Amino acid sequence: MKVSIIGQGYVGLTIAAFASKNHEVIGFELNSAVVSRLNNGISHVEGVSSEDIKQAISAGNYRATSDGLEIAESEIVVLAVPTPLAVDRKPDLTYIEAACKVIAANLTRPALIINESTSFPGTIRNYIKPAIEKYSKRKLEHLYAISPERVDPGREDYNQKNTPRLYAGLTPEATAKTRDFYSTFCDNLVEVSSPEIAEAAKLFENTFRQVNIALVNELAQISHALGIDVRETLDAAGTKPYGFMKFAPSAGVGGHCIPVDPSYLADVAEKAGVEATFIKRANEVNLDMPKYIARRIEIDNGGSVKGKKVLVVGVAYKPNVADTRETPAELLIDVLQDSGAVVSWNDPVVGTWHGTESTPLSGADIAVVVTKHDVVASEDILKSAPYVFDTTGKVKGAVQL
Ligand SMILES: NC(=O)c1ccc[n+]([C@@H]2O[C@H](COP(=O)([O-])OP(=O)(O)OC[C@H]3O[C@@H](n4cnc5c(N)ncnc54)[C@H](O)[C@@H]3O)[C@@H](O)[C@H]2O)c1
Repeated sequence: MKVSIIGQGYVGLTIAAFASKNHEVIGFELNSAVVSRLNNGISHVEGVSSEDIKQAISAGNYRATSDGLEIAESEIVVLAVPTPLAVDRKPDLTYIEAACKVIAANLTRPALIINESTSFPGTIRNYIKPAIEKYSKRKLEHLYAISPERVDPGREDYNQKNTPRLYAGLTPEATAKTRDFYSTFCDNLVEVSSPEIAEAAKLFENTFRQVNIALVNELAQISHALGIDVRETLDAAGTKPYGFMKFAPSAGVGGHCIPVDPSYLADVAEKAGVEATFIKRANEVNLDMPKYIARRIEIDNGGSVKGKKVLVVGVAYKPNVADTRETPAELLIDVLQDSGAVVSWNDPVVGTWHGTESTPLSGADIAVVVTKHDVVASEDILKSAPYVFDTTGKVKGAVQL
């Protein structure tokens, strides 16, 4: 089938890599630098090798483009565009709307339109379908479905093939065609009764993580005040074979999903007259962790970090990926700078961030580990400063969160 994927980032390119084994895939992407790298067989996404892209290109099954005309004949169109928060932390669907305009302006035949971007229940029914219909010049009877993406970039044990995939169409025909499409590269398909269930399940999965991370972050603060090791407490609780799932304390949550998706659920809840107090509180606890960490560091260092050289180690939001979106390192750097510290950062996986380069792992007064990549040795971190604070639990010998 001819499949167009709108957005060639983490999600879109990952789908393209799997789908192009059986289908002719157009990767529609607005960023021209990404388009030209992809057409030269260079992947920018962890988990998608450049070799995979090159093979798909040489088999005639993949090309990237910014030209909307190239999606004209698509039988399937997948939306994989960002769904961030606006400045007021409300859902920002402007990328979805732009994608709808491209689809509406260019499709010349009825297609199955599947949304993989994360959004609130009702997005495909009440937002995407009406937007495409509104912007289309031609009257085409498209089918609509949702299949929320669950990819975890950098993860090796679960991928597109073996991660169960939820799906539902607005009509039985849309549902059936969606199943046929994903069954060409996914082993485990889970049909649900409506698109809203799939949309809500996706939001709840990440809300569950966010709330539980906030809970262990609160436990970390309680444990420290009581002089108890939080990680040993969690290991001990984790020996219970049922009814408990272990989460780890950290500097906060990052990435495109966990800090963002719960706010989509809170927003739709509020519109339905339910105040999502739990979700909001979890958000606050996680967003406050950098302040808590900075305070702990200040207390351990004579009450102030003013004028001290502080090295933030690991600015990616999680280990072994270069993704810095919503990273808690950013908030921590702000808090430390506001307290008068001279802050630099080290992260060889990220390399360049906000126009600055990763600095060497040495010569600091204080080092604080936000993310511990496998390529960064604990011994080197411990040598980088006389005082090292570790939020990850991986740098033995450092002061622990
Ligand atoms: N990254 C993840 O781990 C992950 C996991 C599950 C779900 N999601 C969801 O998937 C969606 C996409 O996330 P992502 O991580 O792939 O984002 P991303 O930023 O990595 O990629 C999105 C791409 O879309 C492009 N784009 C934006 N508007 C466009 C348009 N109108 N037409 C064509 N291209 C456009 C951007 O240039 C970018 O390259 C989001 O809704 C996200 O919440 C992400």
